[in-house]
Amino acid sequence: MRLHTAIYTALLSLPLRGVLAGNSTFSNPLIPGWSSDPSCVYVRDGHDAYFCVASTFGAFPGIPIYGSRDLVNWKLVSHAFSRPSQVPWINIAEGQQDGIFAVTLRYHEGLFHAITTYTNPFTQGLIFTTEDPYSDSWSEPILFNTTKIDPDLFWDDDGQVYLTSMGVIQQTIDLATGAVSEPYDLWPGTGGVWPEGPHIYKKDGYYYLMIAEGGTEMDHSVTIARSKNIKGPYESYSGNPILTNRGTDEYFQTVGHADLFQDASGQWWGSALATRCGPDYEIYPMGRETVFFPVTWEEGEWPILQPVRGRMEGWELPKHNKRIGGTGAFVNEPDVIDFHPGSSLPAHFVHWRFIKPEDFVVSPRERPHTLRLTASRGNLTASPPEIPYTDPMTLVMRRQTASLFTFSADVSFDPDQLEHESGLTLFLTQMQHADLSIVGLPSKNGKIAPHIRFRVMVQREFYDGVIPETVVKPIPPSWRGRPIRFQIQAANLTHFTFSASSTKRHDGKAEIFGVASAEIFSGSPGHFTGTLVGVYATTNGGNASANSYISRWRYKEDGQYIGDDAFVPYTPFIFE
Ligand SMILES: *[C@@H]1O[C@H](CO)[C@@H](O)[C@H](O)[C@H]1NC(C)=O
Ligand SMILES: *[C@@H]1O[C@H](CO)[C@@H](O)[C@H](O)[C@H]1NC(C)=O
Ligand SMILES: *[C@@H]1O[C@H](CO)[C@@H](O)[C@H](O)[C@H]1NC(C)=O
Ligand SMILES: *[C@@H]1O[C@H](CO)[C@@H](O)[C@H](O)[C@H]1NC(C)=O
Ligand SMILES: *[C@@H]1O[C@H](CO)[C@@H](O)[C@H](O)[C@H]1NC(C)=O
Repeated sequence: MRLHTAIYTALLSLPLRGVLAGNSTFSNPLIPGWSSDPSCVYVRDGHDAYFCVASTFGAFPGIPIYGSRDLVNWKLVSHAFSRPSQVPWINIAEGQQDGIFAVTLRYHEGLFHAITTYTNPFTQGLIFTTEDPYSDSWSEPILFNTTKIDPDLFWDDDGQVYLTSMGVIQQTIDLATGAVSEPYDLWPGTGGVWPEGPHIYKKDGYYYLMIAEGGTEMDHSVTIARSKNIKGPYESYSGNPILTNRGTDEYFQTVGHADLFQDASGQWWGSALATRCGPDYEIYPMGRETVFFPVTWEEGEWPILQPVRGRMEGWELPKHNKRIGGTGAFVNEPDVIDFHPGSSLPAHFVHWRFIKPEDFVVSPRERPHTLRLTASRGNLTASPPEIPYTDPMTLVMRRQTASLFTFSADVSFDPDQLEHESGLTLFLTQMQHADLSIVGLPSKNGKIAPHIRFRVMVQREFYDGVIPETVVKPIPPSWRGRPIRFQIQAANLTHFTFSASSTKRHDGKAEIFGVASAEIFSGSPGHFTGTLVGVYATTNGGNASANSYISRWRYKEDGQYIGDDAFVPYTPFIFE
C-alpha cells in the first residue's frame, strides 16, 4: 500500500497542464462497481439534479437510482424495484443474469419513468413511475408486450410516445395501458452484432438514434443515425462509431451502451458502461461500471463524444454539492455498520433474488448490535433439483466498488450439526464465489465441532487456471467463545486474500486461509454482473435450523486503479 500512496501523492502534485480555465478534470468511473447499462437524465424542475439507473438482473432490490447535484458525487437515492410484487418472476429466473435487463430513465412532466424488460424464460415489458425519486415509492409496473430487450421512451412534440427497442425496432405506446402498435424497423446499425441499447433524441429538426453495437464485450461501440422523420429512413453517420475503445490497449474496455444529456448550463455529457480490464479481457471482477464523458454537439452537426479514459477533461462541472435526498449512501462511502437497535439493512445491501425477510433480523433482542441470520437450506451454489437455484438464500451483500478494498465482519456461530455454515463470501454468481466460514465438521473424537473453512466454487468450464484447494482447520481453542473476524481483501489488482483472526484482545493476529485469482470472478456466467461481498448462512441441505450473528461490518476503499499506473484514493476524484 505504501507504493500506491506514493503514486497518488505524485498524482496530486501534478500541475494541471493543458487544462484551461473553466474546464474540469475528473476520474472515471464516477459510479464504480457493478452499475451496468447506465441511462441518465438531468432534471431541472424542483430538482436541479442528475439521475442514473442501472440494470440488476436477479439482484434484489433492483434498478438502483443514483442521484447527483454536481455530476461527480453520486448517491443511491432509491430503487425502482424494491417490492417482490413488482416483478414476481425474479423467483423463476434460474440463470445468473436473467431478470432485469437494461433500463432507460426518462423524466416527463413531473413523472420519472424507468422502462425495462424482465427477461427469461419470457420477456415482459415493465414501466415504473414515480414523482419522488428519493424514496422507494416507485409504482407497480405498467406492463407492455414485447420480445425485445433495451426499451427506450421518447415523447415527441405532438405528445405521441415512442417505444424503441433492440433490433432496432420502434412502436408507439400508450403509457396509460401499455398498449403498443405493430413494430416497424428503424435501423439495423452499421453491421456490428447486437444492435441494441437505442435512445432517441430530437435536436435542430432531426431525430437522432444512438445505439450500441458489437455486443457488450471487447467489440462494444456506439453508433448513430438521424432522420427528419421519427419513423425513418435513418441516415447513418459516416464517422461511426462515435465512441469505442475496441482495438486499443486502454485499461477501460467494452465502452458502449451510451446515453446523452445536457447539464444545467446546457453543455452535453454522456454516460456509458465500461470494464476496467484492458488491454485484455481477463480480470475484471467489478464488471461493467458507469463512466461519463463530455460531448460537443454543435447546431445541425453530429455529436462528438470524448473517448473514455480514467482521467478525463471536459466541460466545467456543476458546483460541488452533496445535498441530495434519498435512502442510500454515496457510492464511495465506506461501510461502518454496527446493526444498532432500531436500524435496518442499509439501502445499498443486495440479495440474490428474493429472500425470506424473517431470516435477517437486525439487532435481535437476544443479541443486540448484531445481524441475526437464519440459515437457508440451500448454499450459495444450490444443488438442483433437490434445492433449486431460485430457492431463497440467506445471503446479503454490497458491491465491490474499488480496485483495492478491505471488507470484514465478525461472525458468531456455534454449529453443532454437520455442514451448518456461516461466513463471508466474495460472490459473482452461484457458480463463481469464494467463501470463508465457520462450519460444523467432525472433530477427532467424532463429535461435530466448529471449523474454519475456505472454499472456492468455480466450474472448470469457466476457468482454466489454478482453483485454490479447500482449506479446513479446527478453530483454535484460544479463539473460542468470541466472534471470529473474517476479512476479504483485494490487496492488489489480481488476487483476493481471505483471512481470519480472533476478536480476543491478545490474539488478534490474522491468519491467511486462502488466496484466489480475480479471474475466477470475472465473466463467464457472470459477465453481465459484478462482484459483491457479504455474509451468508446455510445448513447445506440440512433441515434443522441454525442462527448465526454478524457484527462490526466494515468496508473501505484502499485505492482505485484508473489505468496508466495511476491509483486515485477514492472515486469520485477531482484533480485540482
Ligand atoms: C399482451 O398480449 C396478450 C396476449 O396477446 C393480450 O391479452 C394483452 O392484452 C396484451 N397486453 C397489452 C398491455 O397490450
Ligand atoms: C473544454 O472541454 C470541452 C469538452 O470536452 C472541449 O470541447 C473544449 O475544447 C475544452 N476547452 C478547453 C479550453 O480546453
Ligand atoms: C498479488 O497478491 C497475491 C496474493 O498475495 C500474490 O500471490 C501476487 O503475487 C500479487 N501480485 C502482484 C503483482 O504483486
Ligand atoms: C452445497 O450443498 C450441497 C448439498 O446440498 C453440497 O453437495 C455442495 O458441496 C455445497 N456446495 C458448496 C459450494 O457449499
Ligand atoms: C429434509 O426435508 C425434506 C422434505 O421436507 C426431505 O425430503 C429430506 O430428506 C430432508 N433432509 C434431511 C437431510 O433430513
